[in-house]
Amino acid sequence: MENQRKNIIAISGSTRQNSTNHLLIKAIADLSADIFKLIVFEDLIALPAFNPDESFENTPQKVIAFRALLQNADGVLICTPEYAHGVPGVLKNAIDWTVSSAEFSSKPTVLITAATDGQYAHQSLMGTLKVIEAKNIENLQLLIPYAKTKVSAEGRITEEKTLGEIRALIDRFNQTLKN
Ligand SMILES: Cc1cc2nc3c(=O)[nH]c(=O)nc-3n(C[C@H](O)[C@H](O)[C@H](O)COP(=O)(O)O)c2cc1C
Repeated sequence: MENQRKNIIAISGSTRQNSTNHLLIKAIADLSADIFKLIVFEDLIALPAFNPDESFENTPQKVIAFRALLQNADGVLICTPEYAHGVPGVLKNAIDWTVSSAEFSSKPTVLITAATDGQYAHQSLMGTLKVIEAKNIENLQLLIPYAKTKVSAEGRITEEKTLGEIRALIDRFNQTLKN
């Protein structure tokens, strides 16, 4: 039933139009349609550069709106590529805006790094999400190497192993949301 579905904010660390990470979010939305209402945050690129001076005073409207979306969500799904052995700047920038205001604290959060390899960005983001206290992040993470070969242009996961891992991740996310 509609009012029993959990509100999940999905954030893609890629700004590319035909992004694998966008397709992955679509695939997860389809696979979890009966339990999650996924709202994709489209404004990542429009967030201004993080400035601690504006964290509590003169906070930009786009940041206020982003924080409110996170606050009102039951959980967060992050899907991201890796760039130059690091976290995409737009994604790290968005997360930095939430450090002092603590929207991720105790928030069930899934991290999927879908890249060619992705291990450096994944490890770095895990460290960040742990320090800002995202709930159960250790159990809600998945690294998908060679991601482009595993998702179709229509947003279907085409590799059995990855499909199984995503289904199991959705289950663990749902359990965390219930606790
Ligand atoms: C500038 C740039 C740097 C990249 N550096 C890395 C890297 O260090 N490690 C990696 O695993 N993939 C790297 N990639 C590949 C992307 O992570 C990979 O193509 C990913 O699937 C892109 O995700 P998207 O389709 O959602 O945009 C890089 C891609 C670009 C454009």
